[in-house]
Amino acid sequence: MKYEIVYISTSGCTKKVAQALAEAVSPQPCRLINFEMETPSDDADVYLVGFCVRHGACPYALLEWMETLEDKKVMLFATGGLAAVDGYQKRIEAVAASFLSDSCEYLGMHLCQGEISPEGYTHFRSCLSDSGDEGALQNIRQLYAYSQGHPNTQELQDACNFMKNALKQH
Ligand SMILES: Cc1cc2nc3c(=O)[nH]c(=O)nc-3n(C[C@H](O)[C@H](O)[C@H](O)COP(=O)(O)O)c2cc1C
Repeated sequence: MKYEIVYISTSGCTKKVAQALAEAVSPQPCRLINFEMETPSDDADVYLVGFCVRHGACPYALLEWMETLEDKKVMLFATGGLAAVDGYQKRIEAVAASFLSDSCEYLGMHLCQGEISPEGYTHFRSCLSDSGDEGALQNIRQLYAYSQGHPNTQELQDACNFMKNALKQH
């Protein structure tokens, strides 16, 4: 079984998960592809596709590439600042997985808490600034503080366990 991990990571959180998955797959053959710098191959059997959530979604360029996959096993993984929000993964997964062709076998998605960067914090604040909702701003401040240091060792392990179980079941 040949593996390929294809990811987008702007500030490094998703890259950490991608690297942990690559180690977990070892010693099986596995390529690690930073989608913004390299072109994925089309000859792997299993694609682990990772992204940082941006504006509530998977970056569109990655979705467009996912759409071209045929007859592959595909698992999604992601990191997001809002990962702890109830039902958040389902919403992102529903859109991302819909880009996969019916010929692919979908193994599921794992979302980890990511660290919110200062840029991300500014983004969330600007989304709320017009609302004047002090409670929501306070929640974002708390989430920003909570998110620092994520994904942590346990979360990386959880992502690897999710992948191993998903592969066992398919
Ligand atoms: C401009 C911008 C928009 C973002 N939008 C979202 C979002 O909609 N939902 C979310 O959960 N996180 C969002 N984030 C936070 C990132 O997804 C999170 O920090 C992620 O772990 C970063 O991954 P990376 O380090 O691999 O780039 C946003 C961050 C930035 C900078």
